[in-house]
Amino acid sequence: MQSILIACLPLVAAALHGTRHVPQFDRYGLESTDCQIRCPKSANPRKVIIPALTQAKNATTGEWENTLECWSIDTVDPDLTDLEIDNAIRLNWEEGFDKAYQYIFHGDSYMPAHPAPEPSLILMSAGIGDLRVPSGKCLRVGAGDVFFSVGTLGKQTAWWSDGTLVSDFYFKDGKIPHHEVVDEIDAGKNSVGEDADSPHSDL
Ligand SMILES: *[C@@H]1O[C@H](CO)[C@@H](O)[C@H](O)[C@H]1NC(C)=O
Repeated sequence: MQSILIACLPLVAAALHGTRHVPQFDRYGLESTDCQIRCPKSANPRKVIIPALTQAKNATTGEWENTLECWSIDTVDPDLTDLEIDNAIRLNWEEGFDKAYQYIFHGDSYMPAHPAPEPSLILMSAGIGDLRVPSGKCLRVGAGDVFFSVGTLGKQTAWWSDGTLVSDFYFKDGKIPHHEVVDEIDAGKNSVGEDADSPHSDL
């Protein structure tokens, strides 16, 4: 019996160490704190709230820093009855997009601090992403998540899991849709936001 157990040990050890295909998320210390920005759902069905990796000028240093915000978007077609579509709104991005890229990760991938190349809208189809700004705030995304990436002046890090499929749509001529900044919600609080008609700031 004992000899069988001992004979099995190398297999057990191999199984325990056979994790190299599992994303080594915490290699970069990304698990240590809950840094997630949580955007409310819009209480107004004519608007949609989408997280944004954007930028702000640091009043002390005068340098641009990438930041995370919740943006309420009202550039939508709220009535699609002409198209015989009910219970839906359509994002109306005015000038639209002029480039679209799909990235497929065949291993987990870490991008050190870098600016967004162009203002874009990013769609996650598979996998997990963790995007982080200098304040320590992060946006962790999974399949089905959508976010703006418009922080072209500051820097952010990005981690992508093995198997991530992500699409990046560049806004035509860099034109960012009209938006209003709304408050994020605290972890564990009501997930429906105030009507975004009373935002506290705008870009
Ligand atoms: C601005 O920069 C200073 C110095 O690096 C830093 O301590 C501070 O946290 C920054 N402010 C914000 C709002 O990020």
